[in-house]
Amino acid sequence: MGETQLPVSPHVLIFPFPAQGHVNSMLKLAELLCLSGFKITYLVPKNIHQRLLLHTNIESRFSQYQGFCLQSLPDGIYEGSVSTGDDVVKLCDSLNSVAVPFLRELLTPKSDWNNTKSPITTIIADGIFSVVIDFAQEIGVPILYFRTISACAFWAYFSIHELIEAGEIPFSGNDMDLAIKKVKGMEAYLRGRDLPSFCRATDIGNPILKILSKETRETARANGLIMNTFDDLEGPILSQIQIHCPNIYTIGPLHAHLKSRLAAANSNSAPNTSSNSLWAEDRNCIQWLDQQPSKSVLYVSFGSHAVVTKEQLMEFWQGLVNSGVKFLWVIRPDSIVDQNDEEGKSKSIQEELEAATKERGYMVGWAPQEQVLAHPAVGGFWTHSGWNSTLESIMEGVPMICWPYFADQQTNSRFVGEVWKIGLDMKDTCDKVIVEKMIRELMVIKKDEFLKTANEIAKLGRKSIEQDGSSYCNLDRLIQDIRLMSN
Ligand code: UDX
Repeated sequence: MGETQLPVSPHVLIFPFPAQGHVNSMLKLAELLCLSGFKITYLVPKNIHQRLLLHTNIESRFSQYQGFCLQSLPDGIYEGSVSTGDDVVKLCDSLNSVAVPFLRELLTPKSDWNNTKSPITTIIADGIFSVVIDFAQEIGVPILYFRTISACAFWAYFSIHELIEAGEIPFSGNDMDLAIKKVKGMEAYLRGRDLPSFCRATDIGNPILKILSKETRETARANGLIMNTFDDLEGPILSQIQIHCPNIYTIGPLHAHLKSRLAAANSNSAPNTSSNSLWAEDRNCIQWLDQQPSKSVLYVSFGSHAVVTKEQLMEFWQGLVNSGVKFLWVIRPDSIVDQNDEEGKSKSIQEELEAATKERGYMVGWAPQEQVLAHPAVGGFWTHSGWNSTLESIMEGVPMICWPYFADQQTNSRFVGEVWKIGLDMKDTCDKVIVEKMIRELMVIKKDEFLKTANEIAKLGRKSIEQDGSSYCNLDRLIQDIRLMSN
């Protein structure tokens, strides 16, 4: 009788770009794969490793899965703030120089690490590490790319080459409102100011623009592309991407998909909350929300990278107070910059605002955002349009005011305002009168209209992660394909 070969249990190495939005969504993917019995090695720099241990229940949460390993990268990775394109370049450069030699050491068949673990059978890398594709192809391990951004922002990055060829970027003079024609499928609503912020560079040789354009094009070399979105939301744009990258797995919204699969695995009992915060969450705001009327509160948060000046902060605050709407405002401790101020003074501005705000709002340094957006008291979200935040808001049917800060956010906010019509785009302004006007429009004047459209899209999102829904089926296909690749 011939020997029957036992199927190899997949061991997937997941390598996220080390920033909150990326670490968060790729950990959700890791947990979804753990639920299917896969072994996972999750690779992050030491500082991210420590922050996850400090601020989340990652150890107890993942202890139920055999074979989950949170693995630190060696020293030498940029640890400063990531609030400009130059910072992103510094981080990418340091990752490329530290991670590849480390991966080589890790994945060498006779390494100490490989002797104690089963071999890596697939790599899932954040889609801006094409050096990892080179390496994976060299050692013969299949590689999938994961992009944490929306399909619309991905497609805009993909089209940078065409935009440059056609002279649509760089912009000259004040033509930010001119229609952009070279991002196929978006001709009807894309203006210069809606392209990812790095396209605003005056020099097309700008390092961040070059990196994003090159890295996005390289996606086609991977065995497949995993995206945190759903077909009913971005179908037409996904069809454009598919021409170049045929094997796409749209499995989002990942936070909701994980919640629903965990509930099914635990026989519908309420799953543990799976926060992946890199800052300490202030949960007292939930008790404050409990005391507010239904849909009355505007939640305000600009994510993990955005920074504001003291002047911008004051415009925001005055607009918020003048609107008369109650608000829950996240001001990250490291988010106020003012070149002329010493750090101590910036801090006291935050404290002053907090004291002055007590009547109308509540301020925290970092919130349990998924729980906040799901709270019945929250009726609107003033956001920087990071993709995780946008998806979290979409799934709860919460309309948005968008104040995009950088990168993909400029494109996401245009889609929220102009395509999906679930909010207002405030990009490129910071004026208390406009702030007040938009808050009143979203939360009072057109409240019912926005809530209705937001609920319709939320329904489509929920449908996509139900059994037989598009994201549900695509995740099953991904799991099946990783199993096949592992044998
Ligand atoms: C940026 C990009 O803009 C985003 O599109 C990309 O995918 C990752 O990098 P970021 O500024 O981190 O993202 O925003 P976002 O993608 O919205 O992620 C922020 C995450 O932090 C969200 O999951 C949100 O729930 C969480 N968060 C934010 C909190 O848990 N508490 C807070 O107070 C604020």
